[in-house]
Amino acid sequence: MTKTINIAIDGPSGSGKSTLAKGLASALGYIYIDTGALYRAIGLYAARHGVSAEHPEDVVPLLPAMDLQMRLEDGGNAVYLDGVRLGEEIRTSTASHYASQVSKVPEVRAFLLETQQSIARQNNVIMDGRDIGTVILPDAQVKLYMEASPAQRAKRRLAELLAKGENITEEQVLADIQKRDANDAGREIAPAKPAEDAIFLDNSSLTPEETVQAALAIVEKKLRTACV
Ligand code: DC
Repeated sequence: MTKTINIAIDGPSGSGKSTLAKGLASALGYIYIDTGALYRAIGLYAARHGVSAEHPEDVVPLLPAMDLQMRLEDGGNAVYLDGVRLGEEIRTSTASHYASQVSKVPEVRAFLLETQQSIARQNNVIMDGRDIGTVILPDAQVKLYMEASPAQRAKRRLAELLAKGENITEEQVLADIQKRDANDAGREIAPAKPAEDAIFLDNSSLTPEETVQAALAIVEKKLRTACV
């Protein structure tokens, strides 16, 4: 079987991973996989079943009955919960908090591992998340780690949330981002951190288009030298 090409993009919330991943996927004709959406779906499921965000481990006994599917649609992954395609309901501040909390639970991470790895075995993918280069795809041909200043990330996230009608201030968004960073990077299992062989890309002062161009240059160079 021909080996697929896997590009891992990790980095904190609001660092521009998904914008870059979508741009790269369309430039290269690869499939974009947003792994955060899987954790967000489990967070939503937990919330719907009355699990407290402060006791995310209570979702574990509910996992076997969960109908969670990832389907490839329109060049990316659509996530379905109980047969319904998830959309904006997993993008609220509450959903972000739940996602970060359930993502600390080892059984939740184990539950999602094979789904992520099998899709990358079968397709050329750009996968974004927190542990893609370290745990999910340690053999990815290219690993990028996105960075942007917390202030810049808070600005971007605020614009998204305001556009969705949330009533929130920049200070609250910055505080949420910092809390989530600490939660994601401080957890015991698969903490959010760069892989040793990751290439850092700081896009604080780059436009989305410039970020894609910078990443494309890195990818092309890496793929030329990698044995693919
Ligand atoms: O990328 P995102 O903001 O949609 O991710 C939501 C949460 O899911 C984030 O707080 C951390 C968690 N996550 C993770 O632990 N591992 C991943 N590969 C992707 C997301």
